[in-house]
Amino acid sequence: MFQTEATLVLLVFMIFLHPSECVSDPVEVRALQAVRNRIGDVFDRLSNWEGEDPCGDVWTGVICTTINGTDHVTELTLLNMNFTGSLAPDLGNLTQLVIMIMFTRRSQQLLSVSRLW
Ligand SMILES: *[C@@H]1O[C@H](CO)[C@@H](O)[C@H](O)[C@H]1NC(C)=O
Ligand SMILES: *[C@@H]1O[C@H](CO)[C@@H](O)[C@H](O)[C@H]1NC(C)=O
Ligand SMILES: *[C@@H]1O[C@H](CO)[C@@H](O)[C@H](O)[C@H]1NC(C)=O
Repeated sequence: MFQTEATLVLLVFMIFLHPSECVSDPVEVRALQAVRNRIGDVFDRLSNWEGEDPCGDVWTGVICTTINGTDHVTELTLLNMNFTGSLAPDLGNLTQLVIMIMFTRRSQQLLSVSRLW
């Protein structure tokens, strides 16, 4: 009887701690939303940047890594998307970001690689 209860408790823990239950860091979700709002996405390339789970839902150009049970944005790759705006400073809130690649609209210049801060 005790053993059954222990097994049940263990199962419940496993369900809650299972890696697939990981969620995106809410600070980073807000940062990505701020970036999208500022970037001037005239062709709606980031139309799937919706909801609260960029890592689980796979947002365009966003690559995540699970670090200590939380999904963190570690890479942003936004190539040739003809953005017209600018980069929101909230980008700095993506504290685990290691790679970032983005081209500007006019010159196709490399705007930035790696960390900006
Ligand atoms: C990013 O972090 C700064 C400093 O903590 C904060 O003021 C700002 O509101 C954050 N941005 C977003 C979009 O949450
Ligand atoms: C994960 O958590 C452990 C224990 O709190 C800490 O020592 C380690 O540095 C963390 N790893 C990362 C990548 O943050
Ligand atoms: C995006 O910009 C590139 C380079 O300026 C241009 O060749 C391309 O036609 C643009 N795409 C759209 C959909 O306007």
